[in-house]
Amino acid sequence: MSVITEVKQRLDIVELVSEYVTLQKAGRNFKGLCPFHSEKHASFFVFPEQQSWHCFGACGTGGDIFSFIMKKEGIDFGQALRLLAQRGGITLSPLEAPDKAEDEKKERLFKINEAATEYYHHLLSSTKAGEAARSYLERRKVVPETIKEFRLGFSPDAWETIKDYLLGKGYIEKELVEAGLIIEKEEGGSYDRFRNRLMFPICDIQGRVTGFGARVLDDSLPKYINSPQTSNFDKSSSLYGVDKAKSAIRKKNLAIIVEGYTDVLTAHQQDWQNVVGSMGTSLTEKQVGGIKGLTNNITLALDADIAGEEATLRGRAILAYSNAEANVILLPPGKDPDEVIREDPALWQELVEQAMPILDFVFQSVVSKADINKAKDKSLAVQKLLPTIYDIKDPVQQSHYLKKLARELKIEESAIKTALREPKAGRKRPQLSKPIEQSRLARRFGSSRIEEDCLALLLQYPELRPSARELSPEHFESTENREIFVKWQHSSDISDIESKLDTSLLEHLYCLVDKDYKNFPPDIRKSEQTRHSALDDYIHRLKEKLFRRLETEKEATLEIEREKGGTSAELLKLEELGINSGQQLQDVFIKKGKKPWIQ
Ligand code: UTP
Ligand code: MN
Repeated sequence: MSVITEVKQRLDIVELVSEYVTLQKAGRNFKGLCPFHSEKHASFFVFPEQQSWHCFGACGTGGDIFSFIMKKEGIDFGQALRLLAQRGGITLSPLEAPDKAEDEKKERLFKINEAATEYYHHLLSSTKAGEAARSYLERRKVVPETIKEFRLGFSPDAWETIKDYLLGKGYIEKELVEAGLIIEKEEGGSYDRFRNRLMFPICDIQGRVTGFGARVLDDSLPKYINSPQTSNFDKSSSLYGVDKAKSAIRKKNLAIIVEGYTDVLTAHQQDWQNVVGSMGTSLTEKQVGGIKGLTNNITLALDADIAGEEATLRGRAILAYSNAEANVILLPPGKDPDEVIREDPALWQELVEQAMPILDFVFQSVVSKADINKAKDKSLAVQKLLPTIYDIKDPVQQSHYLKKLARELKIEESAIKTALREPKAGRKRPQLSKPIEQSRLARRFGSSRIEEDCLALLLQYPELRPSARELSPEHFESTENREIFVKWQHSSDISDIESKLDTSLLEHLYCLVDKDYKNFPPDIRKSEQTRHSALDDYIHRLKEKLFRRLETEKEATLEIEREKGGTSAELLKLEELGINSGQQLQDVFIKKGKKPWIQ
């Protein structure tokens, strides 16, 4: 049995969800207030028989135990698997569990950082040594609640404070060096890295402290120093405040990215909890990747003077990763979000509301600098913009910007198109060398067989991609297939998928890309026609499956609402409207702006 199936068998979805949502029994099922959006009436249902959940309200989505925990904790599939396996008392095999020694080391580094955070925080809040830092924060209008929530701290003006404290706790010097808290001297011995600085613990999305940022209390330089790269801390993939922002980002369906630590503090303090900090780096794909499970709308607050260049870089990071809607806020010259939010909250509100699509902004800043009477300027502008256009995933949008570029620079569109079609260099298809265990896959068939057949076809025949546009992750009920499908959507080839996929799913992937995949029709390799009709058939069946699933869930919930006199406004409305066929139900969903599931 695969570990994923085992997890599903061992754990009960009702029990798990109950830890996050107060569930009420409703017939054979359970309902409660949806944990993923704000609502007054319960439209979130858990179905013990199917071991699934569904929100009939604003989310209009559902899934299994994995998708629930991924969404709720903002973690990826691999992390969810480890979390749930541990809960179910299941030991992961080496393929699924990354190096155990490495894991233990990381765990210990987290403990060290946690102890350091507590100690620095104590020094700031309750000691005489922390007095200067306390009054500094007061001058900057950071209130005690914020200091507490973000666990700000102070590292005293001495060489061996944190070192002595942590050695006293039983940690050894080598570990403290690895954690980046102390620095080794060449001549032997070591000393505290952070001295006489205000400490900002940096956390991962689960709230574990991965590293620190540290600010001087005056104008001396460097203004900030940060933890070095460790096995737990990578500045370029961290977003400051993400653990405290994640639920607001999901609820508002928007993440606002600012630069600085202090910008984040002020934003949260003024009720803008959906703000995170890029920590001064150009936004990276990894940072965007860290929040893409929470929202598809990202707004960047940029300094007016550096905005052009930065927007290009950052915009590319976002576009390269997803179809996220990216907007830019241009800050008033010389101001950062910290000042704007504090001094003029109404202006900040307005800036957020009027944020401009990043592509429009990038265009504007490049094109405005070019003299369209000069051939050299034109070609420079094309060179600058082409990589960005190349990264646009949506073909309609891509064509829109292509036309715009041709129009504004007065060039033939075909000239740009030719340049665009040049393949990216250096991408090679990998050799798949892992052993294929077809039998293991076979045992998992049953309800997810069509999902797997369809995935195998898509993975093995890239030319079918355009014909699979109607498929969405919702069509894949089992999380392992859904994960692979989503990665396929955002990848150009198998190696790309391989690099993005959690290691626990690689074996499943290898089964699907096996040339002798046994459920294909016999002449699949020879006939393009067969491939197309097989795909059509799979898509049709997947839609049907999703439709039936939604019907069953709808039936179940309607029955309960009828029995109980009903409280769920959404469902009652459907009933009042006399909705009884799937098509009608779907029409209502479409009118409400939700995605159709059959066409
Ligand atoms: P800023 O210079 O804008 O700092 O750098 P700030 O956050 O507004 O700080 P205050 O308001 O002067 O106190 C933006 C971010 O760039 C990173 C930090 O993450 C900082 O918050 N940075 C900046 C560094 O890492 N090192 C530096 O020397 C400067
Ligand atoms: Mn600032």
